[in-house]
Amino acid sequence: MSYQIGVIPGDGVGPEVINWGQKVLEAAAKRGSLDLKFVEAPVGGTAFLETGKVLPQDSLQKLSDSQAILKGPMGRPDIEAGIVERDGILTLRQHFGQYVNLRPVKSFRGLEAASPLKDNLLKDGVDFIIVRENSEGLYSRMGGISANSGTDINLFTEKGVTRILEFAFDLASKRGKDLISVDKANVLSASLFWRRHFERMAAEHSDIKCSSQLVDSFCLLVLQDPSPAKWDVIVTDNMFGDIIADEAAAIVGSLGMSPSANLNPQGVSMYEPVHGSAPNIAGKGIVNPLATILSCALLLRHSLGQDELANDVENAVQAALDQGLRTVDIAAGGASCKTDELGAAVLAHLA
Ligand code: IPM
Ligand code: MG
Repeated sequence: MSYQIGVIPGDGVGPEVINWGQKVLEAAAKRGSLDLKFVEAPVGGTAFLETGKVLPQDSLQKLSDSQAILKGPMGRPDIEAGIVERDGILTLRQHFGQYVNLRPVKSFRGLEAASPLKDNLLKDGVDFIIVRENSEGLYSRMGGISANSGTDINLFTEKGVTRILEFAFDLASKRGKDLISVDKANVLSASLFWRRHFERMAAEHSDIKCSSQLVDSFCLLVLQDPSPAKWDVIVTDNMFGDIIADEAAAIVGSLGMSPSANLNPQGVSMYEPVHGSAPNIAGKGIVNPLATILSCALLLRHSLGQDELANDVENAVQAALDQGLRTVDIAAGGASCKTDELGAAVLAHLA
């Protein structure tokens, strides 16, 4: 099979991690006899400084012609905060109709010391998945700022809510596990609307154990006991999903270990590390490439249907960690290695 992958190097540490993502995809393609063609499509702060556009038309065309997108983090300190986020990241998610943001939270063996939680809380590992609504809520971009107020409309539509809940119910049913909806229905009308739909659909899915949790309470409980017995599929809105994904990343050791998939189940999906462009460490060769490499595993699984290759990539990550290799974010004060050493180790295990 032959596929085109659109590659957005991004800003800051973006090119460093995307370089390893692409190498890992190339190695996986070789292993699985896939024909992957990579097309570079600059988007972000650097693209803005070079072309005057955060998302140049030519890049958008290349991405539209691709089967999947591998995206680096974007944002630069010399560009006003918000421009790249709105005109780059959010515009891409909306343009491609990527209404699901899948964020698996899975611990890797040997990284317990990198987590701020005590070892006894991590003895069963951590393995849950956040299904974040990715198109509306506080991200619907309705509102504005004036001299004496700032407003964002928390818009939840019937179409937006039902399609993300359906996705989550399907996923929970495939994993054969529980589904927990995280909201703030005791205060927000939008959340109450969400919860009513969740409860209606829960009644139609007697095969799945469903419950609702308030977001503040969720943030507390997941720290007190993050074990797989308690959490499996978590479905939540755009804003809460953004926040709890970072909390969850800390639980498993680092944002540098957190992959994500922006999915349009009928269209072009986009894969990116959860972390940002980290300009403070850009160019130093010390960024953790694993969040991007694990995002490539999601690309293989969700866009190319290559489950086995996706598992191979995840196993190669574990094997590289088993060798004791740690970038500084997961070194827990011990010896650390460079981006290239960790990337090369993953590649060697895949070859
Ligand atoms: C994320 C990021 C983005 C978001 C920002 C950079 C727009 O924090 O992917 O989690 O808020 O979704
Ligand atoms: Mg975020």
